[in-house]
Amino acid sequence: MNSQSYTDLFTLRGGEYDRAMRLNPSARDQEFLQAIEKVNLTNGMKVIDVPAGGEYLRSFLPDGIIYFPHEPCDTFYRQNNDIASNSLLPLPFEENGADVLFSIAGVHHLEDKTELFNEFFRVLGKTGTLVLSDVREDSKVAKFLDNYVGSNNTTGHQGIFLHSQTASELKKSGFSIISDTIESFYWIFDDILSMGIFCNTLFDIKKVSSKQTVDAIIEYLGIDEFPDGKVGMRWELHTIVARKS
Ligand SMILES: C[S@@+](CC[C@H](N)C(=O)[O-])C[C@H]1O[C@@H](n2cnc3c(N)ncnc32)[C@H](O)[C@@H]1O
Repeated sequence: MNSQSYTDLFTLRGGEYDRAMRLNPSARDQEFLQAIEKVNLTNGMKVIDVPAGGEYLRSFLPDGIIYFPHEPCDTFYRQNNDIASNSLLPLPFEENGADVLFSIAGVHHLEDKTELFNEFFRVLGKTGTLVLSDVREDSKVAKFLDNYVGSNNTTGHQGIFLHSQTASELKKSGFSIISDTIESFYWIFDDILSMGIFCNTLFDIKKVSSKQTVDAIIEYLGIDEFPDGKVGMRWELHTIVARKS
């Protein structure tokens, strides 16, 4: 799928994704934190987030960080509604301008990532750091998304996930790899039903009930119940940290 056709597709369900995130804003905290913890963010740094969705990363950044979100689908919330162009590429940022670029859970929608990776390189400053975190090919999460979500949501799901060659692809764009890890963590919910409702809303699952989605989560991913009564849905991303120099 090219970047434009994917964006058209995600525009259809971006509103529901955003609604789920606003109804349950802390469910994915561990996912954002595992990415943030990869870099030392200090006062005055310029941080790009692409694709930013509804700018969820913003609340995890320390005070004094200058945040530049970029989101190609206009069905997501944007704090600054004046941003004119929102096509994914080229990135709407000047060359060598950013200290850190986060890309979380977005690039698996893009078949040819070369231009995007080249753009990541272009907009980062000389000592800039990229944190790319997305679903890994053949992982439980990949199977859950492509098999269960794709069969039951409004748009289908066919991920072009990160794989063993992604780090080499980043090197071709000019990056040096700092770390390349699989990160396991939880999406956290007050109870099991909230987990099903969140996932049905986030992924725009309309063909089955949230109870059926709970069963699928248990089958595909697994859950853990904590002493405080909360429920953790097991989730996993492939996180690559790369430097421009
Ligand atoms: C699962 S959301 C991730 C958003 C946010 N980073 C988060 O973690 O919630 C998927 C994102 O991919 C974005 N997107 C749209 N078109 C894209 C494209 N062609 N390539 C990559 N991402 C795209 C969507 O707009 C959406 O923000």
